[in-house]
Amino acid sequence: MNRHNCALFALFVLSFFALPFTALSADVANGEKLYQINCGACHLMGKNATGPNLEGVEGRWESKELLYQWIKNPSQVKAMGNPYVDQLLAEWEPRGGLMAAQAVTDAEIDDILAYITNWAPPAPVVDNSAVQTDGSAAADEPNLDVKTLIFIIIGLLVVLGVMLRIRARVNQLSGKTKEKGPLGVLIGELKDFVTKQMNPTLLVLSAVGILSIFMVIDMYNRAQDLGLQQGYAPDQPIKFSHKLHAGQYGIDCQYCHTGVEKSKNANIPSANICMNCHNVVSSGPTYGKTEIAKIYAAIGYDADKGKYSGEQKPIEWVRIHNLPDHVYFNHKQHVVAGNLDCENCHGNVREMEVVQQVSLLEMGWCIDCHRKTEVEIDNNYYQEHFHQVFKDDYAAYMAKVTKEEDKIDLATFIKEHKKYTVGDMGGLECQKCHY
Ligand code: HEC
Ligand code: HEC
Ligand code: HEC
Ligand code: HEC
Ligand code: HEC
Ligand code: HEC
Repeated sequence: MNRHNCALFALFVLSFFALPFTALSADVANGEKLYQINCGACHLMGKNATGPNLEGVEGRWESKELLYQWIKNPSQVKAMGNPYVDQLLAEWEPRGGLMAAQAVTDAEIDDILAYITNWAPPAPVVDNSAVQTDGSAAADEPNLDVKTLIFIIIGLLVVLGVMLRIRARVNQLSGKTKEKGPLGVLIGELKDFVTKQMNPTLLVLSAVGILSIFMVIDMYNRAQDLGLQQGYAPDQPIKFSHKLHAGQYGIDCQYCHTGVEKSKNANIPSANICMNCHNVVSSGPTYGKTEIAKIYAAIGYDADKGKYSGEQKPIEWVRIHNLPDHVYFNHKQHVVAGNLDCENCHGNVREMEVVQQVSLLEMGWCIDCHRKTEVEIDNNYYQEHFHQVFKDDYAAYMAKVTKEEDKIDLATFIKEHKKYTVGDMGGLECQKCHY
């Protein structure tokens, strides 16, 4: 055997090990991600939607090759006239159209199928519409309500008054005015104090004292509400759950928030987007048909007849995040150029039954992240801006060094100074964030 053959033989043997290995090494987590990005808009695990439920799909196809071919090119497989495919299309083509060809590789399909095989139906959703989510410490803090406090105190005073009257009456009836229990003694003393000892000035002073305590509590409450709406999670006109849609069914954020990569605003989806699925899905696990019926009402859809009336009234979602008008914030800049995840600023929305504001949205919050976050220098379309920063820094560096061997050229300097934060590129300048 010469060297060439030897290498070929080794490769041949290796490929035997590699075969089962690739199947085993399918990456479920990657599969889930790929599924969410490519398939989640039409396929929902455990449920028919625009496309069929993919649970157990591998078992339905006569060969893996055909299944892979289908995913990559459905129209080609359709033309082959396979009986299973014909039956599938007879049922589904009128509802969901022919599935679009998916730009995924065989290895990626392996991962997606591994995710599908490993998927288990989640535990039944209980009505936890009132339950807040993780990181909701702010919302869970007891909130001292002034009105409740006043009611409690008035209530206590009334009870005290009634008790005093009863006591006096009992004493009067029994003729016993001397023998008192410990409570009676205390009440007697109190009564004496109020009627005999208390002068008007003292009364006014204590009233003022009590009032100012209330005012301090009230101011504290107001200060907490002022602008800083961390933990803010208002009731919405439809009980829309991110936990169900983005979490359980893995629908990609951008499927609904279409502006996130394209514009300043993330956008709240219109009812049309909801209808992509809800023309088929007319009832949910927690609220049955009632909440989904509100989508139909908004878009003027008669679910029984499957017809649109043409009468529409927009769903009035309550806005949660809201920066003051004098601040400029751009989603595209952060999500595309900054390569940040929604989680960085919005927390784990996939776990939220009701969306709530997780970050403070104060100036210090923006600045703090800009100071800390390093930016990639390659492939950054702020290269030109950087160039000036580099040159300035380089000049400053060269002005400081005295030893000959520390004097380096600009290219070496840039290589050795990779740590440039958003702040360095101008992210701390007032006019970048303020109109
Ligand atoms: C635009 C909607 C859409 C997208 C996106 C989509 N599918 Fe489909 N898929 C369908 C529809 C609709 C069908 C039913 C057959 C038909 O009408 O073409 C289907 C059928 C299937 C089937 C056969 C189901 C069965 O019961 O045998 C598989 C497997 C499948 N899709 C996998 C995928 C995978 C994997 C992805 C993502 C990489 C994906 N699909 C993305 C719409 C879609
Ligand atoms: C099926 C559509 C859909 C998907 C998918 C979706 N959202 Fe939403 N999102 C909505 C709707 C509708 C609202 C407005 C009602 C509400 O606040 O719950 C909303 C509101 C929000 C808000 C609050 C907006 C405000 O008023 O300040 C944030 C933040 C948000 N979504 C983030 C996300 C993230 C992050 C994801 C992905 C993990 C995601 N959404 C996935 C439909 C969707
Ligand atoms: C990609 C598909 C898809 C889109 C888009 C979508 N939904 Fe859903 N929705 C579902 C599925 C699936 C269910 C749950 C069905 C089940 O589990 O029984 C559901 C359930 C619901 C429920 C019932 C929840 C419950 O627990 O009873 C409401 C309300 C709802 N969706 C509102 C909306 C609104 C509002 C929009 C648009 C902003 C929207 N959905 C967009 C797929 C979707
Ligand atoms: C989680 C970190 C983070 C937070 C929080 C954050 N930013 Fe940024 N911001 C970035 C990153 C990263 C970039 C750089 C994007 C790029 O490479 O262009 C950036 C860039 C910017 C820019 C462009 C700066 C320039 O020099 O061109 C502006 C303006 C901006 N952010 C505004 C804000 C405002 C306003 C807030 C607060 C409401 C905020 N950012 C909160 C990370 C953050
Ligand atoms: C750097 C922080 C940051 C990141 C990353 C980020 N957001 Fe936001 N988001 C904000 C701020 C700040 C606001 C409030 C904007 C305003 O009031 O003008 C906001 C508002 C929203 C809103 C309300 C509607 C609107 O456009 O004002 C939605 C929906 C939303 N974000 C979804 C998302 C989704 C989905 C992602 C991920 C793809 C994401 N956001 C990534 C900071 C961020
Ligand atoms: C990275 C973005 C960013 C930069 C840079 C920035 N600001 Fe702000 N600024 C904000 C945000 C966001 C708010 C709103 C805070 C709030 O509503 O609590 C704000 C609020 C303010 C306010 C209103 C008072 C307040 O605290 O609400 C003033 C005044 C202000 N900024 C001045 C400045 C000055 C001066 C500079 C330059 C030294 C500057 N800002 C740089 C984001 C920024």
